[in-house]
Amino acid sequence: MPEDKIKLDAGTVLPENLIITEEFRKLNNLIENTSSNMFITGKAGCGKSTLLEYFRQNTVKNYVILAYTGITALKARGKTIHSFFKFPPRLIDNKDIKILRDQKLIKELDTILIDEASLVSAHILDAIDKSLKKNRKSKDPFGGVQIILIGDLFQLPPIVGAAERPFFEKMYKGPYFFNSKIFKKSNVDTHELTKIFRQSDEKFINLLNKIRISKIEDDDLKLINARVQDDNFKVPKGVILLSPKNSKVDHVNNKNLELINSPQFEFKAEIKGTFYEKEYPVEENLRLKVGAQIMLVKNDNSTPQKWVNGTIAIISKLDKNRISIDIDGEIHQVGTESWEKFEYRLSGKKIISSSIGTFTQYPIKLAWAATIHKCQGQTFKNVCVDMDEGAFTHGQTYVALSRATELNGIFLIKKITYRDLIFDKRVYEFLGNKLESKYSKEITETDKVIKQRENGAYDKSSWSNDDDLKLLNFYNKGIPLQGIVNMMNREPSDLRRRIKKILEKLS
Ligand SMILES: Nc1ncnc2c1ncn2[C@@H]1O[C@H](COP(=O)(O)OP(=O)(O)O)[C@@H](O)[C@H]1O
Ligand SMILES: [Mg+2]
Repeated sequence: MPEDKIKLDAGTVLPENLIITEEFRKLNNLIENTSSNMFITGKAGCGKSTLLEYFRQNTVKNYVILAYTGITALKARGKTIHSFFKFPPRLIDNKDIKILRDQKLIKELDTILIDEASLVSAHILDAIDKSLKKNRKSKDPFGGVQIILIGDLFQLPPIVGAAERPFFEKMYKGPYFFNSKIFKKSNVDTHELTKIFRQSDEKFINLLNKIRISKIEDDDLKLINARVQDDNFKVPKGVILLSPKNSKVDHVNNKNLELINSPQFEFKAEIKGTFYEKEYPVEENLRLKVGAQIMLVKNDNSTPQKWVNGTIAIISKLDKNRISIDIDGEIHQVGTESWEKFEYRLSGKKIISSSIGTFTQYPIKLAWAATIHKCQGQTFKNVCVDMDEGAFTHGQTYVALSRATELNGIFLIKKITYRDLIFDKRVYEFLGNKLESKYSKEITETDKVIKQRENGAYDKSSWSNDDDLKLLNFYNKGIPLQGIVNMMNREPSDLRRRIKKILEKLS
């Protein structure tokens, strides 16, 4: 397996220098020791998924971890919502709510945790509620199971396809989980993690926080657009390119394929009934070469499961009708899969769905580039972002840029513009308008401190986010005070006071 292969995170790992802040500890205890429903939120990179993994490793509860997409489920070490509840890949009607085979598991369930909950639609949350009620023969919300939604509503919203939209508009005020019918009945308390860990540079964090709430100025754009590369820039090996739309992603991938010097094979999809070109799940003419970097785009249904939607692999062998792939050194064969196209009709209050077309093809996409959607939840040291014709949905630019651990790890192909900041005000209807002013205030204050420091007017006894993280890290590793004094060039009393303050502040 080549070293410079692009990798997606296939399972959160607790970092070696895990810092258990007060807020982290409290939230973990709250999930562990209560049966309250919660929405655990926080900015990108504040350790939501890390908290989930910490809970998983330490809990005594009977739990299930779920997520909406294959790759987010893989990262959370869980299953997709659809596979767990056996939901069909379309609008879910009452007859789709099945009695699940593993009744013992479902009856003894204490808690369901759902990561990347911003992607979970109102319709799906209602279907989860119905399935749990039916399977547990209980009238309580979620059949009496504790629900922990984890995610950030400033990131990508649920995807509602064109065919589903009219039904959504009839049934719900908006697409989000908090628009569901069950949400209002289930007393969900919101809790926020506030300390950011993915990035440490305060200026970059503040820039991302501004992009998150769509409050940026010319200077901010200047800062991010300093990362725009010149025309002859080549994406470094092992670095993924993210873009809003599939058309751009496909174009970049095909160009990369051309650069491989081995025979090209072509696999043609079989299309029956009605299936519009813009809805094709993969290319109609899939072109592949040995050595090409690919992504599987459907979950493998065999046991043990060999890949999920989002797993990255390399093509290892090709025949006219056989594709072999290498996933981390193991060779597997991939067969074709079918996607169905549904049409919906409303009969009274019932949704009637019918399949009007199928598309059969190998579930494979080239993967030098991917859509921003695929990468929500990921952390990259380096990432290339091509906004192409611009963002088209809420949270998209924020998700793309906040994947990087540092500003210099971002390579922009095109400038970010004001138009790329699309913001859905409905998230404040749920989170409360006060939050907007709280976030704005935080940002302005941080900007002030950064400016002061740049002008040399910065008080040496004050602490930046970077300093705090460094100190917490040393403290956590059990480094003796004198060692920290030497490394940070600070007075022992100063250090003692600060560590006490940080531990308190984050409670
Ligand atoms: N408590 C923590 N201590 C140290 N590092 C952390 C902590 N929480 C998160 N990180 C690191 O920060 C990055 C982002 O964490 P993640 O859990 O993916 O954030 P989120 O899910 O909120 O976007 C990861 O690299 C992770 O290892
Ligand atoms: Mg996460």
